[in-house]
Amino acid sequence: MNEYDYKEEADSYDQKVNEYDSHSHDVIFGMSYEYVKSGEKILDLGIGTGLASINFSKIGLKVYGLDMSEDMLNICRSKSFTEELKLHNLSISRIPYDDHYFNHIICCGVFHFLGDLGNLFSEVARVIKKGGIFAFTVSPGTTTEEYKKEMTDWGVPIYKHSLDYIKRLLDRNEMRLLKGQRLLMKGADKVNYDMTFSVMIAEYK
Ligand SMILES: C[S@@+](CC[C@H](N)C(=O)[O-])C[C@H]1O[C@@H](n2cnc3c(N)ncnc32)[C@H](O)[C@@H]1O
Repeated sequence: MNEYDYKEEADSYDQKVNEYDSHSHDVIFGMSYEYVKSGEKILDLGIGTGLASINFSKIGLKVYGLDMSEDMLNICRSKSFTEELKLHNLSISRIPYDDHYFNHIICCGVFHFLGDLGNLFSEVARVIKKGGIFAFTVSPGTTTEEYKKEMTDWGVPIYKHSLDYIKRLLDRNEMRLLKGQRLLMKGADKVNYDMTFSVMIAEYK
């Protein structure tokens, strides 16, 4: 089980993203917009309540989602915009879809709960189609280590990943970085902007 208690979080999640100025899902959509079109299939890894993919469904993409929390999936399901939702743990399993099934893949606000991303990137490369985009957020590390678990000031541990590590994973899996953008979000005091994320958009070549 994840250290972060999503069961408690699920009901209030959508409200909390506003309190924390945590709008990376909207940034991912805006940065991806030029590469996607109506009718394409998009997979949302760690879909949660669906904030990151609902905009893609509004412009006609078919949304599929995976998440390890049934509570988050239930809230997402109640919004009635997805084609298919599956309970799935990204850190231990094969993505439960055939090779090159999706046009695009997004993963917003999830890498910082996972350490090693090697298997996940190779699974993304297996299920995405050529020319599709992989759009994700990452909490960038300041050391040379590939990834490191660090305690936040508010007592929740998160993984930070070095951007060199992310770039190596992209290279190894035939993906090319198209765009990157740093974002600042509030921490637990809901006042100070002490969380940094990078939004990255890569193309599967
Ligand atoms: C911060 S929320 C982000 C939700 C959504 N992507 C968004 O942008 O609003 C993180 C989500 O990742 C899911 N998650 C965390 N670790 C996971 C794992 N190992 N496998 C699948 N889902 C995971 C959580 O259940 C939660 O729904």
